[in-house]
Amino acid sequence: MQSKGETMKIYADNAATTKPTKKVIETLMHYTEQVFGNPSSLYTTGQIAKDALEDARERIAKHIGCMPNELYFTSGGSESDNQAIMSAAQNGLKNGKNKIISSTFEHHAVLHVLENLGKQGFEIVLLPVYEDGIVRVEDLENAIDDKTALVTIMTANNEIGTIQPIKQLGEVCKRHNVVFHTDAVQAVGHLPINVKEQNIDMLSLSAHKFHGPKGIGALYVKKGISLQSLIGGGAQERRKRAGTENVPGIMAMAAALDEALENLDNKMAYVANLRDSLQKELSKIPYSKVNGNLDNRLPGILNICFEGVEGEAMLLYTDDAGISVSSGSACTSGDLDPSHVLLAIGLPHEIAHGSMRISLCDKNTMEEIEYIAQNVPKVIERLRIMSPIWKDLQEGKKEHVI
Ligand SMILES: Cc1ncc(COP(=O)(O)O)c(C=O)c1O
Repeated sequence: MQSKGETMKIYADNAATTKPTKKVIETLMHYTEQVFGNPSSLYTTGQIAKDALEDARERIAKHIGCMPNELYFTSGGSESDNQAIMSAAQNGLKNGKNKIISSTFEHHAVLHVLENLGKQGFEIVLLPVYEDGIVRVEDLENAIDDKTALVTIMTANNEIGTIQPIKQLGEVCKRHNVVFHTDAVQAVGHLPINVKEQNIDMLSLSAHKFHGPKGIGALYVKKGISLQSLIGGGAQERRKRAGTENVPGIMAMAAALDEALENLDNKMAYVANLRDSLQKELSKIPYSKVNGNLDNRLPGILNICFEGVEGEAMLLYTDDAGISVSSGSACTSGDLDPSHVLLAIGLPHEIAHGSMRISLCDKNTMEEIEYIAQNVPKVIERLRIMSPIWKDLQEGKKEHVI
């Protein structure tokens, strides 16, 4: 029991990674200890592992609405994104297509691959996401043409949580006979996904974003699309992903997704209620602004910026108060530049630097929300007292931007 006045320990950075559930850890242990055979071995010990693997493939495929033979296991979201984009680019070149359309606020696992393809002669078009963090279907209509090899747009953004009109974007691609890939790393396990209903040709997912283990993920590739292998070696994953399969990780990923999707509607409503309660409290802080479209967001993500404070210091102070949050994505927070996502939605640099991403899950409680709501305002107040920028704003030497 936590006694009054004692610092709580609150994990509120679930978009960076999630805590594996008890079931996930038990599954990892079981398949590490008991089902350790190599699925490529023909004797029984190997075939038991192979059967387990195919059972996991079937379960995951069912959850996203594809056929088991359209699902490939990878090491996670980054690898899936790389393989999907590079394959579609190569397929395009074979047909004389060298244009790729994406958006300005994709994850770096997409943007860096596109940057490289740009250097190799591909035309890369990044659609704007506007102040609300949403790609417009009309913009895709205007950009897509008979040179387009691929459209890749994320399902939900990892920093501000905004959900893209995937089904409509996919519909445009379908009409133009262009492959549509979506990085659904933040969406799978948090939103209902059905690749057939949503016109998705390729989809990336990652287990550690839905309480599964790190270093395991999957790529869905619609039947008929040729997939290029990134790794030379054995014939695993129908020759598309060499390397002995991570059976414990794959089984734990399937267990995590089974669990995440159980009563998903109730979980989404519960988490959105926590998020909205926190948003209501933190919005009372003067000169604060919630980022991204408020109606079309992942239930768990709240991205809010505070004028006159600096993100790094804010994180250290909230950490001192026992609260783990982020000031951007975990992948970019080693970097002193403001997040490309916040710049893409038009935030000025100084505001983007003072942003906080709080990402919740169904394991968080209202008591934790109350604790965050009590402590974050104190952190902001302390930082503003020390901030020369805040002093200038107070003295009218600088204009407020929010
Ligand atoms: C939207 C998005 N795509 C891709 C990734 C990379 O996934 P992984 O860590 O499994 O490589 C992340 C992780 O932060 C993400 O949020």
